[in-house]
Amino acid sequence: MRLADRVSLLRPSPTIALDQKAKELQRQGRPVISFGVGEPDFDTPQWIKDAAIEAMRQGKTKYTPVAGIPELREAISRRFLREQGVEYPAPGVVVTVGAKQALYEIFQVLLDPGDEVIVPAPYWVTYPDQITLAGGVPVIVPIGIERGFAFGIKDFEAAVTPKTRALVLNSPQNPSGVVLPPEEVAAIGEFAATHDIAIVSDEVYGKLVYDGLRHRSPASAGEAARASTVVVDAVSKSYAMTGWRIGYMLTSDLRLSQAVQDLQSQLTSNANSIAQYAALAALDGPDDDIIRMRDRFAARRDLMVEGLRRLPGFETDVPHGAFYCFPRVRELLDNPPRGLAWRDSDELAAYLLDEASVAVVPGTGFGMPDYIRFSYATSEDRIREALDRIAKALKA
Ligand SMILES: Cc1ncc(COP(=O)(O)O)c(C=O)c1O
Repeated sequence: MRLADRVSLLRPSPTIALDQKAKELQRQGRPVISFGVGEPDFDTPQWIKDAAIEAMRQGKTKYTPVAGIPELREAISRRFLREQGVEYPAPGVVVTVGAKQALYEIFQVLLDPGDEVIVPAPYWVTYPDQITLAGGVPVIVPIGIERGFAFGIKDFEAAVTPKTRALVLNSPQNPSGVVLPPEEVAAIGEFAATHDIAIVSDEVYGKLVYDGLRHRSPASAGEAARASTVVVDAVSKSYAMTGWRIGYMLTSDLRLSQAVQDLQSQLTSNANSIAQYAALAALDGPDDDIIRMRDRFAARRDLMVEGLRRLPGFETDVPHGAFYCFPRVRELLDNPPRGLAWRDSDELAAYLLDEASVAVVPGTGFGMPDYIRFSYATSEDRIREALDRIAKALKA
């Protein structure tokens, strides 16, 4: 069968591919510890599951409006107002199948062929591919550990052209864990508004911020910034609900929200009805569980950073958000322990999987080949054990 040319643009997500390989090895009996996957190891809180069970009992198992049940859209709008002091009324809210679908749909309805989208690197693996699939051109701006991964207005100014249609802002960032200072976020908001560029603000890690810092959305930088920003979020990471597949977007532009709904009506229709009721309970419920999980992540972050800093050739920054460490390993690649050699971080990651049974994700997929990503969404005991194994494999 002949496949469409578009297929040549498709690349499977490298993080999902790695996770599948790690799981396959585990099935074969290998004691693989995975730092690969970007999902909390905690269970979804019971009271959220109970809301889903209750929804099923009440027969809420039918199609919902494409944009989601009105109560959930209201709850999303309310929650954003409470957290960021910004109002995006419910008509601008669309509930999607995870944040991933919201991002896909936004790029599809924003971009014409050749439109440019500025994407700071390291970036979450999916942005460039989704932009390309929409006919757009990702303009990658690398910002490394020497700048603490803190991208800012100057980077966007340098990359902007008459074709720039949007920029991607992801703070806290996957994979670096950087949390931009509120003043920088506000400056980016103002910059985008002045240049008539849309900000696609991916805030899925907004509730996972440590060390007393706070996540700030660019939407909060005044009326013009609110109008230029489309916020993407999900219950996936903060409520340990990755499998429920509930994400959402908020915008003040009702044409954008309608276009996304029209597209979604031809894709999935609504997101899962039962999961929408669970998300409603989550967003309206108490924050105790989010805080408990966040504090556990912070403790694991400390353990990770301490362990990685003991490894030879690893340069590790302290991430203040999300649940990833993204050390640079250039020095290790240039000066490997005697008898070992790797051409790049892909080979190093393959070695760690073979030799230490530890799965990590090479930086290539995040646009930074000299780095490796560790997800510390795994227990403290496993983190200790895996770091020990890596140290041995590196003869440290
Ligand atoms: C930065 C970022 N955005 C979006 C997503 C996708 O979230 P969801 O599972 O809600 O589709 C992820 C998942 O890894 C992510 O890291």
